[in-house]
Amino acid sequence: MKSILVTGGCGFIGSNFIRMQRELYPEQTIHNVDKLTYAGNLENLADLEEDPQYHFHQIDICDRTAILDLLKQTKPEAILNFAAESHVDRSIIDSGPFVQTNVIGTQVLLDGAREIGLERYVQISTDEVYGSLGQEGYFTETTPLAPNSPYSSSKAAADLLVRSYVHTFDFPAVITRCSNNYGPYQFPEKLIPLFISNAMEEKSLPVYGTGENVRDWIHVLDHCRGIDAALRKGKIGEVYNFGGHHELTNLEMTHILIDLLGKSRDLITFVQDRPGHDLRYAIDSTKAETDLGWSPQIPFEQGIRDTITWYQSHTDWVQRIKTGEYMQYIETQYAGRMKKDG
Ligand code: NAD
Ligand code: DAU
Repeated sequence: MKSILVTGGCGFIGSNFIRMQRELYPEQTIHNVDKLTYAGNLENLADLEEDPQYHFHQIDICDRTAILDLLKQTKPEAILNFAAESHVDRSIIDSGPFVQTNVIGTQVLLDGAREIGLERYVQISTDEVYGSLGQEGYFTETTPLAPNSPYSSSKAAADLLVRSYVHTFDFPAVITRCSNNYGPYQFPEKLIPLFISNAMEEKSLPVYGTGENVRDWIHVLDHCRGIDAALRKGKIGEVYNFGGHHELTNLEMTHILIDLLGKSRDLITFVQDRPGHDLRYAIDSTKAETDLGWSPQIPFEQGIRDTITWYQSHTDWVQRIKTGEYMQYIETQYAGRMKKDG
């Protein structure tokens, strides 16, 4: 493809995806559309600032006029929609921005894409749209949607909108649904970067409930490889699941991080549980493996060590985030929980 447009490229997964695209397809032009919310960070792609094939546009995907103008001007062959409010805990505090960006923003992109006509639209979705698993079983692409949080329900709503555009307008979309990502540039509100940076500062690690909830961890670059495969080899109207085949309870993950960092397990503080906390996510990615020739390449043991090393060598990046809005959020999210549980 000569030109693609990525939304949310200044966030965690989007920035990793753009860097990978620049390496894989040097001839391809990339337009990055990002509103720069609290989670968007220009520093994440500072290395591409001088790259003539890379163009940044600070635009809200809900801004219909600005999006349409940009699409008409740039005429990308594909749109990949990473832009989203992405943190479950924030969606429990206020679901408004989630409905706005994740649902309305997706609708604006779909309408704009229809108007210019393009080869492919990729909706970056999540395994959380399937709801929660018990101790057994896996999510497949045919598992019924049963989202449990305001975040996941807004993502499921967007998926249904995409599905309806495929059905009604022959719109050339695919949907990807991935499990929990880890790796460099993840905002330190999510479990792994929050716990690494807190432990490095000898601060407590707030494990929700008893820490028995299970997540299926995948390195962000393996997810990005899957999205690239869905973009280039995926069949219109199809959904592709990606997972890391690496399930851990939150407590097991916390112990791994503490041990690799050489810290004390006394840093663990069990706090009040997340309301509606999904027990377990686990992905069956047979379809992506068979139809796209994709499989995760980065062993967890190597990926998690590299991630810790990245955070250890990017303390400035973390410290610049841990100010103003971030500190306010941490206070809102954790202060009451800590006090209640002592
Ligand atoms: P993130 O929060 O790190 O980044 C989101 C980016 O979107 C930020 O750069 C932000 O500025 C931008 N953005 C938010 N609202 C916008 C708007 N209205 N207009 C334009 N830009 C806007 O999120 P992430 O973890 O990188 O997730 C990216 C996508 O992948 C999301 O759609 C998320 O649902 C999905 N996903 C994430 C994971 C995960 O484990 N992090 C797993 C599966 C799927
Ligand atoms: O499964 C994919 C999803 O993974 C993505 O769609 C979301 O965008 C992404 O944020 C992530 O959602 P989770 O809610 O699973 O991720 P989070 O890092 O917030 O939490 C992981 C687990 O750790 C979850 O069971 C809640 C728990 N947790 C989290 C935090 C922040 C804690 O115990 N303590 C914490 O302080």
